[in-house]
Amino acid sequence: MDELISRINKADNLESLDKIRVEIFGKKGLITAEFAKLKDIANEEKKEFANNLNKKKDAFNNAISLKKTELENLELLQRMKDEAIDVTMFDEIPSVGALHPVTITMDRIIDYFIAQNFSIENGPLIEDDFHNFEALNLPKYHPARDMQDTFYMNDKRLLRTHTSPVQIRTMQNFKPPIRMIAPGAVFRRDFDLTHTPMFHQVEGLVVEEEDKVSFANLKYILEDFLRYMFGDVKVRFRPSFFPFTEPSTEVDISCIFCKSSGCRICSHTGWLEVLGSGVVDPNVFKFVNYKNVSGYAFGLGVERFAMLLHGVPDLRSLFEGDLRLLEQFK
Ligand code: DAH
Repeated sequence: MDELISRINKADNLESLDKIRVEIFGKKGLITAEFAKLKDIANEEKKEFANNLNKKKDAFNNAISLKKTELENLELLQRMKDEAIDVTMFDEIPSVGALHPVTITMDRIIDYFIAQNFSIENGPLIEDDFHNFEALNLPKYHPARDMQDTFYMNDKRLLRTHTSPVQIRTMQNFKPPIRMIAPGAVFRRDFDLTHTPMFHQVEGLVVEEEDKVSFANLKYILEDFLRYMFGDVKVRFRPSFFPFTEPSTEVDISCIFCKSSGCRICSHTGWLEVLGSGVVDPNVFKFVNYKNVSGYAFGLGVERFAMLLHGVPDLRSLFEGDLRLLEQFK
């Protein structure tokens, strides 16, 4: 009996414990055999024999059930160890998307003008001649139309070559005062290092009662805007021509790459051209029946800003979807 008890105590898994149990309580087991002897035992000894046997049986049962609980607990602990998930364990991190550099730049531009109380207006990508040209003081056969290489769909429809037609649509839909920007895609037949057939512009228009806005307001807001975008730069207004503004200016910033000392990017001039702008030509107001008003307007290319801000040398690479470029904007 002691030998069996010590084997029970030494059992190191449930399977071997069960084998010992069968040796004791199974059909051919020790206790089973002992109980079988009862019937041959003389009556006066029967009681004592049976008492002893029951004690033995209880002792075995106790030992087995203690051991069984112990082994079951150990097994559970082992399983918890084996199946544990280490939530801090490093595995491959799934790649996350990023905003496109043009979107980042567009958002930054829009943020500035929203803070300056400009509203956002939209217009159709497929425009008509009137909004894209005529009402912007670009009559048919006017040589300035050649400045923009237009995609024509037919005689009447074209892909807008700039966001300026949204100026016209906004003035047709609302009374002055107007204080709006129009961000969006534009299209031109052009493809080289600095041109893609689709790109983005942000147009701006401010119209007030006559004499309430002047070139000075235009100058102030564009200087402030360009310093918001590019940091501490010098801003230069250079006389130019656009049919829809008079006077017209192109706006340059001091070169952010060479700090104006002259480099390849600024063509050794020390200046980078970034916008077109001017005081709204009275002829434009005539087309939308605005009277006794004055205003200023500007237009800029978003990709050009993105290229300058992020040092992208080839505009076309912005639209190739190459992850090696896009992943740098996470
Ligand atoms: N629409 C012009 C372009 O696409 C940009 C522009 C210049 C817009 C001067 C304006 C402006 O509103 O006043 O080149």
